[in-house]
Amino acid sequence: MIVLGIESSCDETGLALYDGERQQLLADVLHSQIALHAQYGGVVPELASRDHIRRLVPLLEELLAKAGIRQGEGGPQVGAVAYTAGPGLMGALLTGACFAQGLALAWGVPAVPVHHMEGHLLAPMLETPRPSFPFVALLVSGGHTQLMQVEGVGRYQLLGESVDDAAGEAFDKAAKMMGLGYPGGPRVAEWAERGVPQRFRFPRPMVDRPGLEFSFSGLKTFCLTTLERLEREQGSVSEQDKADVAWAFQDAVVDTLFIKCKRALQQTGLKRLVMAGGVSANLALRSRLKEYALKQGIEVFYPRSAFCTDNGAMIALAGWYRLQQPGLKMSTEIVARARWPMADLQA
Ligand SMILES: Nc1ncnc2c1ncn2[C@@H]1O[C@H](COP(=O)(O)OP(=O)(O)OP(=O)(O)O)[C@@H](O)[C@H]1O
Ligand SMILES: [Mg+2]
Repeated sequence: MIVLGIESSCDETGLALYDGERQQLLADVLHSQIALHAQYGGVVPELASRDHIRRLVPLLEELLAKAGIRQGEGGPQVGAVAYTAGPGLMGALLTGACFAQGLALAWGVPAVPVHHMEGHLLAPMLETPRPSFPFVALLVSGGHTQLMQVEGVGRYQLLGESVDDAAGEAFDKAAKMMGLGYPGGPRVAEWAERGVPQRFRFPRPMVDRPGLEFSFSGLKTFCLTTLERLEREQGSVSEQDKADVAWAFQDAVVDTLFIKCKRALQQTGLKRLVMAGGVSANLALRSRLKEYALKQGIEVFYPRSAFCTDNGAMIALAGWYRLQQPGLKMSTEIVARARWPMADLQA
């Protein structure tokens, strides 16, 4: 069955077609609203919703054309429409949910509400080799930092999460403080490459005590006080200072995530680690984990960079997995949940 996936939970409109039987992504298209929100330094929810509305129809047409499906033949060829039902911005979610349910009704196929984080979590399944269950998953995105023990689709046990800011959010805030632009993660990573290693040392929050919880809000404050101190002592913050701070900040986040991943693998005895979400695109994080994995005989999986951040492919894939589950109830209800704990998901 071919599943159409629609993602619109935040600032990306993403659509994709996934063939479940052939385990193959047929086509995907994406419109990122980064340029639209950049001038505000973060996502403006109302602008996001309006832009999704503008983009959905042209993106669908582009997607069908890319997959070689002729106009008017979407119905016969697509077997289900999966859409992000939450968590996310309510207005943005509703645009995708209404569009998906409308298409499903017109085509006479089921509409499947998908949990956005389940989409991220399963995204590494779009790659070869695919990770097999069970595994430890590190979900690191703009809104989440979670370690999960994953036994199968819908069988997720939360091992630990951030008690305050998500890792991606911390990257975004640090970048904003330094005036590096939006979104912050890729900018900080870029600047860090020019940074002098070890000139500054940022704390590693919550690594001294046992457990798998994270905290990133202190790093943000540390970043601010470091910049203020430089300003006071030198009269200004130079480009090189910013690069050095970016290096130290990234090093602290990567180190903290690495320490907790290592701990989760030891605690569960599992030999597979899956990373997903926007921050999993970070090359310093990837190389740190790969280096460890190589030594310890652990397999590490992550999606290609384009599928680390929000996209339609992960929603199509997660929708297909959900459709395989017995007892899945089909409904014409338009589901949109701004908050939706993953613990509420059923296997
Ligand atoms: N190379 C990178 N290094 C670090 N962070 C990155 C990188 N690329 C993207 N990010 C961060 O990833 C986040 C975006 O990821 P994603 O799209 O998965 O999050 P989101 O959809 O906003 O949040 P959520 O999925 O939790 O609802 C941003 O915070 C961004 O700064
Ligand atoms: Mg996301």
